[in-house]
Amino acid sequence: MKVLVTGGAGFIGANFIGYILREHPADEVVCLDKLTYAGNLWSLEGAFASGRFRFYQGDVCDRAGVFSLFAKEKPEVCVHFAAESHVDRSIADAGVFLRTNVAGTQVMLEACRAYGARMHLISTDEVYGDTPLGSRKKFGERAALRPSSPYAASKAAADLFALAYARTYGVRLTITRSANNYGALQFPEKLIPLAIGKAMRGEPVPVYGDGKNVREWLDVTDHCRAVDAVLRAGRQGEIYNVGGKACSNLEIVSALLRLCGRKESEIVFVADRPGHDRRYALDCGKISSELGFFPKTELCEGLSRTVAWYRGHGEWLAKIGSGEYRKVPPFAEGKILVAGSLPGGEGRQA
Ligand SMILES: NC(=O)c1ccc[n+]([C@@H]2O[C@H](COP(=O)([O-])OP(=O)(O)OC[C@H]3O[C@@H](n4cnc5c(N)ncnc54)[C@H](O)[C@@H]3O)[C@@H](O)[C@H]2O)c1
Repeated sequence: MKVLVTGGAGFIGANFIGYILREHPADEVVCLDKLTYAGNLWSLEGAFASGRFRFYQGDVCDRAGVFSLFAKEKPEVCVHFAAESHVDRSIADAGVFLRTNVAGTQVMLEACRAYGARMHLISTDEVYGDTPLGSRKKFGERAALRPSSPYAASKAAADLFALAYARTYGVRLTITRSANNYGALQFPEKLIPLAIGKAMRGEPVPVYGDGKNVREWLDVTDHCRAVDAVLRAGRQGEIYNVGGKACSNLEIVSALLRLCGRKESEIVFVADRPGHDRRYALDCGKISSELGFFPKTELCEGLSRTVAWYRGHGEWLAKIGSGEYRKVPPFAEGKILVAGSLPGGEGRQA
C-alpha cells in the first residue's frame, strides 16, 4: 500500500510513520507536512533512512500543491493527521484552526475525490464535548457533536465535511476519534511532556484549575495500531472511537512527578483554561467488537516508558528548546521535496 500521511512530522504522525514502516515492510509512505512550529524533522530520522519514505514540505490548504503531489505520487490512502492541535492556542487565535483543520481537510478530501484515494481522518474525542465529573455517560460514535473549544469545533467541522464528501461524492472514508495520546516525540507544550520536562529541570509543574478534569489516556503506539486496524479492516463510511484509561490531570501529573523522583508538592495550580471540559468518556465497543482492537499498554507502564524516553532523549528536547529543530537535519538534507508554494518566510531552510 502507498500511504500518504499528512502532518507526519508531528507527534502522532511521526509515530504512525515509524509504525507503518516497521510493521508493513511492503508499504511505502509519503509525508506532507508544512513544518509549522509543531513539525519536527528530527522525529523522522528512521523514516528517512528506510528507503521507503518521501517527504514533501507543503500546506494542506494549498490546493495546487496538494493536487500536484497526488498526481505525482498517486497514494492509495491518505491518513490525515495534519492539524493545529493545541487547545490553548485555539483559544488565543482560532483563525489558523479554521484554516488548517477545516479548509485544509476540505482540500485533502477534494484531492482524494479527484484521484480516487481513500481518506482516513484522524479526529478526537473532544468533538463530543464533555460530561460532568461523576456521570456515567459515555459517548458512542452516534452521539451529538458538542465541541467546547475552537480546536474541538474545527475538528468537528472537519468530520462533518468528510462525512458529507463520503455521502455526496462517494469518497471512501473512515474516521477514528481518539482520546489523549501520550508517548515519545510529543511537542513539549502538551501536558505530559511539559510536566516531564519541568520535573527533569526541577521546576514547578503547572496544573489547570483544581486538576480534577478527567481525560482518557492512550499510548500513541496503541493509537497507531487502532488506525492501522481501521485502515486494513474498517468499514467504509464508519467512525471508530479509540479510548484509553480515564484519569484526572492531577493524577497524571502526580504519577509523572513520582516517576521523576520528585514530590507532589511541586505542583502549582494555575488559573483554569476558559471553557475547560470536565470529563471525556468514550464508548469503544464498536472498534473492539468489529475489529478486535483493545489498547495493549497499561497506563502506568506507558507513563514509565514515556518518562524513560524523554530522559534518554534530552538532545531531542534541547533542540526544541533552542529552536535548532527548525533547521533541516543532516540526514534530510537534499531530501525535502516541495509541494506547491509556501508563503515567504515559512518553512525550513537547510
Ligand atoms: N495529540 C493528541 O492527544 C490527539 C488526540 C486525538 C486526536 N488528535 C489529532 O491527531 C492529529 C495529530 O495530532 P498531534 O498531536 O500529532 O499534532 P502535532 O501538533 O504534534 O502535529 C501536527 C503536524 O501537522 C503539521 N501541520 C500543521 N498545519 C499544517 C498545514 N497547514 N499543512 C501541512 N501540515 C501541517 C505540523 O507541522 C505538525 O507536523 C491531529 O489531527 C489532532 O487533532 C490528537
